[in-house]
Amino acid sequence: MKAEDLDRLQAEACDAVRAGATKDELRRIEREHLGKGGVVADILASIPSLEPAERRAVGQGANRLKQAILAAIEARENELDAEALAAERKAEGFDASLPPPALERGALHPVTRVTRELEDIFTSMGYRVLDGPEVELDYYNFEALNIPKDHPAREMYDTFWCGEGENLLLRTHTSPVQIRALQKLEPPFRAIVPGRCFRNETVDASHEHTFHQMEGLVVGEDITVGHLIGTMKTFLRELFQRDLEVRLRPGYFPFVEPGFELDARCPFCEQGCSVCKRTTWIELCPCGMVHPAVLRHGGVDPERYTGFAFGLGLSRLVMLRYRIDDIRQIMAGDVRFLEQFA
Ligand code: PHE
Repeated sequence: MKAEDLDRLQAEACDAVRAGATKDELRRIEREHLGKGGVVADILASIPSLEPAERRAVGQGANRLKQAILAAIEARENELDAEALAAERKAEGFDASLPPPALERGALHPVTRVTRELEDIFTSMGYRVLDGPEVELDYYNFEALNIPKDHPAREMYDTFWCGEGENLLLRTHTSPVQIRALQKLEPPFRAIVPGRCFRNETVDASHEHTFHQMEGLVVGEDITVGHLIGTMKTFLRELFQRDLEVRLRPGYFPFVEPGFELDARCPFCEQGCSVCKRTTWIELCPCGMVHPAVLRHGGVDPERYTGFAFGLGLSRLVMLRYRIDDIRQIMAGDVRFLEQFA
């Protein structure tokens, strides 16, 4: 064992100590160097076999090695204690040097956004915004809309009935507010009714038990299908910022006569795309001229007044607007989905 060997051993041991990440590791290093059968013990054990002249120097060297290692361990232990204390303080949550946490920002739900946008468009055309109860009477949801108890059109609406007796239900559409509006308002008037509707349907990517519609109702003298078409074109121009061709197909709803399905040219393509299912047309809304029986139920004289009504699928418009392909996302309340609208 030469002096340089001792120096090298000391440097290596002290490096290992300084790199030690835990007290356990320090104990291990201490054992390996200073313990029974450790490095220093080996050196001391070798002394009797050395030349007498060397014994003293090696003995002193071994001792210095031992002291150096002990000192390094103590220094490292102090460092580790200080780090542990700092970590504990941090875990307690106080570090005056940290910037404050960012404020979480809320955002409007996509349905709220589109509802407000449509309300802006229609109020600028002289419409008032109405609402009505979500728990509705059979009378308003069906009967007064020309759908009596045994009418096959009831099959179109998978209804959530409330309680005993078939009188209370969750409204299956916003149309019951047509009757409430007719009863309350003096024609001529224009109204829209955005709101939640409910159907007891099997849920899938395009069917949800809770969804949104926006009813439109215009009543006055000499209101015609021409007004209906003109209104929808104006509405589309505002919504998509360009003129879109529309077409009417016959459609059946007991509360309108004639009844239509109104389609608009796909606003996203020219030759057909996935949104319009390659047809270049998108189904916008069912609509029609208010049936005289409905006007009568609302206390309005059908000899004097006519009107048109439409039922915009608000959920569908939201999906079109934000390219959402699964209606269930809209009401699921998944924060990861909602955060995209922040
Ligand atoms: N209320 C009808 C539905 O939800 C849609 C509609 C509204 C049809 C107004 C015509 C006029 O099925």
